[in-house]
Amino acid sequence: MAGDPAILPTAIAKQIIDPHSYASWDPLLDTFDTLRETQPVAKIVPEQEGLFDPFWLITRYDDAMRVSKDNATFLNNPRPVVFSFKQAIEFSRAATGSNMLVDSLVVFDAPVHPKYRKLTQDWFMPRNLARIEGEIRALAHRTVDRMLEQGPTCDFVKEVAGPYPLRVVMQILGVPPEDEPRMQMLTQQLFGGQDADLSGTGMADMTPEQVVQLVAGAVKTFEDYFADLAQQRRDNPTDDVASVIANALVDGKPLPPRDMAGYYIIVATAGHDTTSASTAGAMQALAKDPDQWARLKADRSLLSGVVEEAIRWTSPVQHFMRTAAEDVELGGQQIKAGDWLMINYVAANHDPAQFPDPRRFDASRSPNRHLAFGAGAHQCLGLHLARLEMRILFEVLLDRVNTVKLAGDPRRATSTFVGGLKSLPLSITPA
Ligand code: HEM
Repeated sequence: MAGDPAILPTAIAKQIIDPHSYASWDPLLDTFDTLRETQPVAKIVPEQEGLFDPFWLITRYDDAMRVSKDNATFLNNPRPVVFSFKQAIEFSRAATGSNMLVDSLVVFDAPVHPKYRKLTQDWFMPRNLARIEGEIRALAHRTVDRMLEQGPTCDFVKEVAGPYPLRVVMQILGVPPEDEPRMQMLTQQLFGGQDADLSGTGMADMTPEQVVQLVAGAVKTFEDYFADLAQQRRDNPTDDVASVIANALVDGKPLPPRDMAGYYIIVATAGHDTTSASTAGAMQALAKDPDQWARLKADRSLLSGVVEEAIRWTSPVQHFMRTAAEDVELGGQQIKAGDWLMINYVAANHDPAQFPDPRRFDASRSPNRHLAFGAGAHQCLGLHLARLEMRILFEVLLDRVNTVKLAGDPRRATSTFVGGLKSLPLSITPA
């Protein structure tokens, strides 16, 4: 493979896989801009052989869309969906017989995936979500109460953008508030372990083997917790999504325990750090632009544009992986059956061919067909919930906050997978 022009230089490869690159975005966006022009589908190989499988990095919007939508050619299984180390895969195989410690919607392909997806699809549609709008608004008010109690300055991520989406997800799963910190910690052990400030576990300093063991422990704790919850919902069903999963039948049979646990875990974990990041990003953009805040206060019809642009602009899920089922041409490269591909949503959502002046936050961007929720069969199950949560929170904030401005430098998390602000200092005057 040496001398293969498709292979990216080591320095670029390192930048793509290094969690720290995602903490200071602009240099990374510069690299994506260059690659889109010169090598829109380019190969990344590990410097140290065997660390991870080589993969193709996709940076153009059109290619990312094509791969996302063609679920027959580009499979989620058998390899883990997120960029991960071989050692972790081997550990998982030994422990569970699967490449992933958790088998969930993101790991399955047809014919299993559509059957599982169908179980909760209706629950996550706007018509059903309208039923819980009042509960979400009450959570938004309680969160803003707490923020305003802090006085004129706050860290918006710590006080609002972090806890609010977690509370929403826990509420739909029927997890009581006293268990939320545990859920938060477990999620960060699963996904956020690359950032020393966020994991709170010292994971950033551990060897890959130690990390995998810690993650395996987190998965086991989740599984036990949700097995109890499912039993409660079988005994006493309610109209929450936990009851739908607990009582679901596939081909006339209840879900096997591992799949049921995986379903709970994906809903519990996929919905909060993501929505936290887009919420914090929206506030960052508004805090920098007092005129936009004032316009929004006067005209709430502009809010949906702010929400959508914040989701594109932040692209909280930074990538997912696919495996080619057959030989296929993509972006001028010959992809072989079995090759691994990274759909990089950050790169795709900053493609100037689709989004003019992509680094600019433009709430009036139209069309804004971003890929932050993915596309195709695996498109985010919770996208309507994410938009609803953000809309309600900003409605409450616009009612109750008069002015908002930055009170320090925002800081981004160190993470290759789900990323975004971990700190957003604001000064606020209440309405
Ligand atoms: C701004 C917030 C969010 C973003 C940016 C986001 C992004 C994504 C992305 C990129 C995918 C993979 C799509 C693909 O492979 O094509 C995904 C899948 C998923 N998301 Fe979200 N998500 C968000 C919020 C939520 C919420 C609130 C929930 C639910 C509580 C949720 C639940 C899921 C689930 C269950 C999947 C797997 C779907 C499948 O494989 O069929 N997400 N999300």
